[in-house]
Amino acid sequence: MTTAGRLPYPIALTGDGVTLREWRDEDLDDLVELLDEPDIARWTPMPSPFDLEAGVAYLKRARQSRASGQRIQLAITLDGGRPIGEVLLFGVDAGLREAELGYLVGAAHRRRGHASAALSLLSGYARGSLGLSRLLLRIDPANTASCAVARRCGYRLTGEPPILQEGPYGPSSLDTWELVSAGGGARLERLRNVAARRYGRRG
Ligand SMILES: CC(C)(COP(=O)(O)OP(=O)(O)OC[C@H]1O[C@@H](n2cnc3c(N)ncnc32)[C@H](O)[C@@H]1OP(=O)(O)O)[C@@H](O)C(=O)NCCC(=O)NCCS
Repeated sequence: MTTAGRLPYPIALTGDGVTLREWRDEDLDDLVELLDEPDIARWTPMPSPFDLEAGVAYLKRARQSRASGQRIQLAITLDGGRPIGEVLLFGVDAGLREAELGYLVGAAHRRRGHASAALSLLSGYARGSLGLSRLLLRIDPANTASCAVARRCGYRLTGEPPILQEGPYGPSSLDTWELVSAGGGARLERLRNVAARRYGRRG
């Protein structure tokens, strides 16, 4: 966090094969193509259908919340060019050093590790540069893909009671996940295996 308690703006982060950058007005057509999609409608609070008007409003709100330092909202790109998704950090509680993150990737770009790369990159930035120690995700347990991303990036279920909500698809519940391993799940897995060997256990 900056001394004024605002999140830094503008920023760009590169690593793990992705570049996260600020949204631009010229991203409008790509944004609509990415967000007007059934899985995004099902699992995120995006308006559906997500048309040009929704896109204009979305980019305007993104710009405002970035300028006011309320949230980090970045386009996921491969090389700083056209967006393939979005990753966010919001709900910052500076006292508790806590924030929530979210992500989405366009249907044409999925299953290539881009969501995991973007989440790991922003989580690392939030821990390292912003000094936030408690990073959270809220995920419907039926959202298999999102749960897999969380697990792969080193997040684990906290066991907190689910957050119940009403949506266009009926009642749903969101589980809370917390980052336990900054290096991602692989590091945690290695440590676990070492512990298992040491104590003669398996699996
Ligand atoms: C969830 C989402 C962001 C995943 O994006 P992605 O770029 O395909 O994810 P990755 O390629 O990084 O995949 C990470 C892991 O998830 C797994 N995964 C991805 N999609 C999956 C699916 N549909 N079913 C099962 N597993 C899936 C991958 O196999 C990978 O697992 P691995 O660690 O075993 O290799 C994307 O599906 C999406 O945008 N969904 C709609 C929006 C959404 O649900 N956002 C999250 C709200 S909480």
